[in-house]
Amino acid sequence: MTDAGAPDARLAGRTVRRIVFGADAIHRRVAELGAEITAAYPDGELLLLGLLKGSFVFLADLAREVRRPLHVDFLGASSYGAGTVSRGAVELLYDPNTVLRGKHIVLVDDIVDSGRTLARLVDLLAGRGPRSLEVCALLHKRAAPQFQRPVRFVGFDAPDEFLVGYGLDHAEDFRHLPYIAGLD
Ligand code: IMP
Ligand code: MG
Repeated sequence: MTDAGAPDARLAGRTVRRIVFGADAIHRRVAELGAEITAAYPDGELLLLGLLKGSFVFLADLAREVRRPLHVDFLGASSYGAGTVSRGAVELLYDPNTVLRGKHIVLVDDIVDSGRTLARLVDLLAGRGPRSLEVCALLHKRAAPQFQRPVRFVGFDAPDEFLVGYGLDHAEDFRHLPYIAGLD
């Protein structure tokens, strides 16, 4: 609670219960991830491919911590369609058709829960002939190991509770919070 931006119960009519990762801790860890990515790709073209919308804050900070040339693009995907239960299929809602062939691709996401969404996307993008394809997730709930591909770059292991802030939403609210918090 000493971190910048204390919980504000007036936000969206829901109470932010406790800060799980404060802004300072996030920024320190994102800087380390940027250094890991810098070291992992000494040569070749690098594309950070952010999954919309949850990755937008993380990707903006992460990209500024990578000390080598890179390109940025985004991909919009939904694994749930209109319902709340995963159908196991991934639907691309926004696909800019950036050329992946021959490039190092780092797929950037906010949080891995069951891992279904990312597993499907990795399969789909692998078909586009990248030189390499890895995942970078700020948070990992390690919820359902049977669905999961290895995530090369992970910021923090997350508790099994609903988290908001730093890009993560609840019904589109709370994405702008500079910290990550649990909801009441
Ligand atoms: P998965 O396919 O089950 O891994 O779902 C991952 C996606 O669900 C993430 O990219 C988020 O969009 C969303 N998600 C999972 N857990 C949370 C959470 O605690 N808060 C906000 N969104 C979440
Ligand atoms: Mg997401």
